[in-house]
Amino acid sequence: MIFCINGTFVSEKKATLSVLDNGFLYADGFYDTLRVYDGVFFELPLHLKRIAASAEAMDIPLPWGLRNIGKWLSEIVRRNSLSDARVRITVTRGAQGRDFSRARKPTIVITCEKLNLKKGSPKEASACTMLLERPLPSIKTLGLQHLVLAAKEAKRKRVSEVIGVDALGFVREGVTSNVFVVRSGRLLTPKNRILCGLTRSLVLKLARKMGLMTTIRDFKRSLLLSSDEVFLCNRVREIVPIVRINGKKIGNGHVGSITKRLIASYEEAVRNFIEKN
Ligand SMILES: Cc1ncc(COP(=O)(O)O)c(C=O)c1O
Repeated sequence: MIFCINGTFVSEKKATLSVLDNGFLYADGFYDTLRVYDGVFFELPLHLKRIAASAEAMDIPLPWGLRNIGKWLSEIVRRNSLSDARVRITVTRGAQGRDFSRARKPTIVITCEKLNLKKGSPKEASACTMLLERPLPSIKTLGLQHLVLAAKEAKRKRVSEVIGVDALGFVREGVTSNVFVVRSGRLLTPKNRILCGLTRSLVLKLARKMGLMTTIRDFKRSLLLSSDEVFLCNRVREIVPIVRINGKKIGNGHVGSITKRLIASYEEAVRNFIEKN
């Protein structure tokens, strides 16, 4: 694979960074994950907007400008002949010497990975809940230790997903996804202390278009476990139905009808997007 470091394209083997980079030393930076379908970035402007917002929130300048970042993204697709892929942009405060709060020369790295996601009937996933609180939940910050710990916990519990619950028992988000539940035909998703994912926004839009009632409010683990349907969503994996949590069946233990309709609607939105672009 060819990666991009500060605008220079290099092979994976030759891609290196300073060991004094704030990203390495302090996990001081943020990232964004984009999805490529048929060689086209899905909703690229929304990702560039989120990158600008994250940079502003973390007070890390983007001296290259969003235009160049957009150009490098296209170049990554071209040089790696990407069709279906995940592309990650990582921005750090860079190597700052002693004054580590300044950002004289931030670092930007673009990496990518080809995807071979199977199409067809939605995979039924099982999950466990776990205490999970991110310090800056509205930003995709580096410092993803919880992701590694969650993966270990999932392995131990023989599930594929982890749903984060805070110290007061409120459901927040998946490790790298947002959570939705369906109760009596109504769609519900947490409101506070989460990353308001781009997939979450699209799912809410599609649900409203389908005439579903949607509510954005916080709820506790007990409500999650007694819901008719549960699913997680993010850019790369789209909508992932959860049919069992902490060993308890959700609904009848199979993908629910509203989740199926939303999956179909999401796939249609992607198809329409690809056709138009
Ligand atoms: C903590 C967290 N929540 C939610 C999401 C989903 O965001 P998006 O739909 O924009 O991929 C992610 C994605 O990585 C995430 O890391």
